[in-house]
Amino acid sequence: MCGIVGYIGKEQKALETIISGLEALEYRGYDSAGIAYLNNNHIDIIKKKGRIDQLKKQLDFKIKSKLAIGHTRWATHGEANEINAHPHKCGQVTIVHNGIIENYIELKQKLENKGYQFKSQTDTEIACALIDYLYQKEKNILKAIQTASHKLHGSYALGIIVDNDNSLYAIRKASPLIVAVKDGEKFIASDVPAILKYTNEYYLLEDGDIVNLTEDNLTFYNNDLEKIEHEKMIFEGNIESGKKNGYDHFMLKEINEQPKVILDTINFYFDGSLESLKKNLPNLNKYQNIHIVACGSAYHTGLVAKTLIEEIAGLPVMCEIASEYRYKRVFYNDKTLVIVISQSGETADTLASLRKAKDDHIDTLAIVNVVGSSIAREADCTLYIKAGCEIAVATTKAYTAQLSILSLIAIKLACIHQQIDKKRFETIVKEIKNLPNMMTSLINNKQYHDIALKIYQREDIFYLGRKIDYAMSMEGSLKLKEISYINSVAYAAGELKHGTISLVEDKTPIIAIITDDEIKNKTISNIKETKARGAYVILVSNYEEHDQYCDDNIVIPKIDPFIQPMLTIIPLQLLAYEVAKLKGCDIDKPRNLAKSVTVE
Ligand code: G6P
Repeated sequence: MCGIVGYIGKEQKALETIISGLEALEYRGYDSAGIAYLNNNHIDIIKKKGRIDQLKKQLDFKIKSKLAIGHTRWATHGEANEINAHPHKCGQVTIVHNGIIENYIELKQKLENKGYQFKSQTDTEIACALIDYLYQKEKNILKAIQTASHKLHGSYALGIIVDNDNSLYAIRKASPLIVAVKDGEKFIASDVPAILKYTNEYYLLEDGDIVNLTEDNLTFYNNDLEKIEHEKMIFEGNIESGKKNGYDHFMLKEINEQPKVILDTINFYFDGSLESLKKNLPNLNKYQNIHIVACGSAYHTGLVAKTLIEEIAGLPVMCEIASEYRYKRVFYNDKTLVIVISQSGETADTLASLRKAKDDHIDTLAIVNVVGSSIAREADCTLYIKAGCEIAVATTKAYTAQLSILSLIAIKLACIHQQIDKKRFETIVKEIKNLPNMMTSLINNKQYHDIALKIYQREDIFYLGRKIDYAMSMEGSLKLKEISYINSVAYAAGELKHGTISLVEDKTPIIAIITDDEIKNKTISNIKETKARGAYVILVSNYEEHDQYCDDNIVIPKIDPFIQPMLTIIPLQLLAYEVAKLKGCDIDKPRNLAKSVTVE
């Protein structure tokens, strides 16, 4: 979603710093971009629909400026165009905003009555006018921002500059914002990649905090405008995570990083002994049921975990999409554990679900990638995946890293409930050691491009699977539609004939997944039903023998069900990637999508 970058510095490199920062945030997803910068005591604003490249063409990089704010906008209120793009200026105040102001219509009326006129359809322009109005009244910008924060409902990270005031201000509530300092230069940004070129040290703002950055000082205030200190954070990843390193796309680079990522994640929590699981994962003894709540691919990892925990550990699991969970009547008790999963740690619906559980005094566990993110900070216990910075909008390595932690949780629960014996545990340990090599071989498999050639021009592609393979189908199908724009749906294999099989015609691609022996023959029967109607069947399975029911067969190694999904996903990711590449799609930045969904 929207990305914010702000700069103040003696080096007067505002334009290039803002642009390079916005480029580093491109992964968040956006459809217009803009910048406001101080130019000889005047604030110039330039905005463009489309990519940052369009904006760059309008900028004169020879201009020396010491103060600027920039923005990439993912349209919510009003279409993507220059007028709605940020920054917005009202009176003496110019702002960029990430989030949603829920009460903007009511505020708009009040401000119109005070004489403000609005050009855009955005909620942001209203917030800007409100701060200007309060500033005119109170003559104190900090007080104006503080008062505005009480009147604005919803979520916001705001970067603010004011005419004739050589300062940068920012405030956040339920939207991410970091602050960084490097020698004589200071920055605000929505996420760490924007500042990595300069420093890997940063500060996190708490909800309601206000920060004032000048050439010489950095001052944090709480919402009562008392000066406060913030602890410096160090970003663990490195600047290389922001580079493609020879790969055509970040997505491909991140797919290739998976063997290392799962090794790093698993090794962090598990040394092959049950003791390490006891020590490094939370105590799970008391829980009799689990709720898993997440969005998108993170929800799909939850579905995998649900199957593993229910089937093997024997514990009931409810897995729910966060945007549903937050508003529904939920039945839990003091033996319930709510697990929220989120790569970014900022997904609005997942955060709201976490807060709902906490308000009801239910124990919460978060599985998160981004250190210090809202979900990570608010959950009772947080387990970090070790995926590093993920740039491609379509998640791959974070998904697999989430799977790896969830597998460890499932194994731990199975041990607690005495559902697996020592021999199986030892086999899993051996297989985990070999997992990165198996993943690498699968990544290097040469079949994907040839198979993609046969299906990339089709309009509909279906995925089939039962139980855990159905959960994998859902992620495979999501990957494909996200980046290739092909209509794709995943079905529980037995469900297809209750309607959707009517869509199967000559050469309709069906990607079928079979890794679970128990239901293998059932899924094969369903595949045959599609084949009899002309389908082109691509089978992803962990067994060798196959006959007339499939046209292409990708064989993956057969390993314990606890860890099998980390292999099953590889062909699905790479098929989607190859199809999107053949179609010439913008793989790392698919249209309309945002990586970090900070609004509901
Ligand atoms: C967006 C992303 C997905 C991600 C989902 C949940 O839709 O494009 O890749 O799975 O949000 O995000 P989270 O950060 O909570 O995992």
